[in-house]
Amino acid sequence: MSASDFVIVILAAGKGTRLRSSRAKVLHRAGGHSLIEHVVRACQPLSAKRIYAVVGHQADDVRAAVEPLGVETVLQQPQHGTGHAMVVARRAIGNRVKHVLVLPGDAPLIRPETLRALLQTHRNGNAAATILTAVIENPSGYGRILRKSGNNVAAIVEQTQLSEEQRTINEINSSIYCFALDKLWPALGRIKPNNTHRELYLTDAIAVLSQQGDTVLAQIALDAQEVLGCNTRAELSEVDRLFRGRKAAALMDAGVTIYLPESVTVDSEVQAGEDTVIEPCVQLLGKTRIGARCTIRTGTVLSDATLADDVTIEPHCVIASSRIDSGARIGPFARLRPGNHVRAGARIGNFVELKKTVVGEGSKANHLTYLGDARIGRNANIGAGTITCNYDGVHKYPTTIGNRVFVGSDSALIAPVRIGDGAYVAAGSVITENVPADSLLSLHQVQVSVVKVAVRHNENCAILYIL
Ligand code: UD1
Ligand code: MG
Repeated sequence: MSASDFVIVILAAGKGTRLRSSRAKVLHRAGGHSLIEHVVRACQPLSAKRIYAVVGHQADDVRAAVEPLGVETVLQQPQHGTGHAMVVARRAIGNRVKHVLVLPGDAPLIRPETLRALLQTHRNGNAAATILTAVIENPSGYGRILRKSGNNVAAIVEQTQLSEEQRTINEINSSIYCFALDKLWPALGRIKPNNTHRELYLTDAIAVLSQQGDTVLAQIALDAQEVLGCNTRAELSEVDRLFRGRKAAALMDAGVTIYLPESVTVDSEVQAGEDTVIEPCVQLLGKTRIGARCTIRTGTVLSDATLADDVTIEPHCVIASSRIDSGARIGPFARLRPGNHVRAGARIGNFVELKKTVVGEGSKANHLTYLGDARIGRNANIGAGTITCNYDGVHKYPTTIGNRVFVGSDSALIAPVRIGDGAYVAAGSVITENVPADSLLSLHQVQVSVVKVAVRHNENCAILYIL
């Protein structure tokens, strides 16, 4: 089957009643992405002529999720079943291709290799339809495969229509199929909504094809987990757990130690280098990149963080969209909001918050400090309780702290302000004016030369600052 002779249709119009949710089922998340995004990503490497998604329930939101991934959408309104969804997709598909690969939007663990193998079986067998099936321990809820002879299928029977003896069949329909379009379209014309939901089931097209003597093949998935659907919250969390397990296993294969991996959440795009150690209850999210020999201690959440080699993140840190260079040590209990760069060997201690701040090589802010919109040079020491007062209620202002600066405890730096290289600011200072390089600012000097009284007018009140 060449790239030019098949399209992919992802069925994503359903509501997902069994999730009991105000959000469309395919937009629920597992393994760090929406269900539909996983399915689209599994389809992308196959080079189909087009990828379509049939949308309906919360169509705009589902469109917004898939269109940026290069998927075209077809509107199914109202939703009268999976067979009806394919009838609706027919016009978009047109006559340009011979085959269609159909997938449900709620089975996100599927891998491209499995889809490729299914396409291959379909082509080699010259089949009218080829069904990806799986043999699972608890088949309850899935359509079951009625085999005719050998690899040939007679029908798919939905859970609600199973006879007593069919209930023991544990080969299930994954809802992933290849169809020859010249066979599918007439077969869809012959199915009836003979079920409790009065829907047109795509599964009923299988019996139609089989009865008219067409070849319907079944291919059993090597890894049954790949076809698991997410119809209920329990299935959703199980699928999430499997994604996390896959990712943790891949990282461990790449030389990362993970303790209690079942307690660790790692998104699919996260990378980590050899000999990095991840302790229990850590979350590594988004595009987080971790170098070699790092230690990420318990309770830490990193999202879109970039760590060089030999970084230690002590317990219970929250770090977003920040860069941390080699040998730096953060936490415990530090919060890095987006936009920070902590340079090599720097130390950010407990109850320290950073926002859009650069901390120079070897500098330290060890305790109880807020540094926002600040640039701090090399080997500076920021004492306990130092606050950059970067916000006057309307605008944000920068603070610049030079190399080797010592800021004593409990100092307030009223931005915009600059503290020159080598300056020494005494404990308890309130700095409102620039401090020259190498100056020694005692509390007395602060009161005499720097202290000011400022009055600022807001709309309804005047604020008196005694500085
Ligand atoms: C379906 C199959 C079942 C199979 C199971 C595998 C049918 C009738 N049954 O059941 O044999 O074992 O998948 O997971 O097909 N959808 C539409 N339009 C609609 C209805 C559904 O686009 O009118 C979409 C849904 O959004 C979903 C997919 O089709 O992504 C499958 O629908 P779902 O309701 O999940 O079917 P299942 O009951 O899981
Ligand atoms: Mg389903």
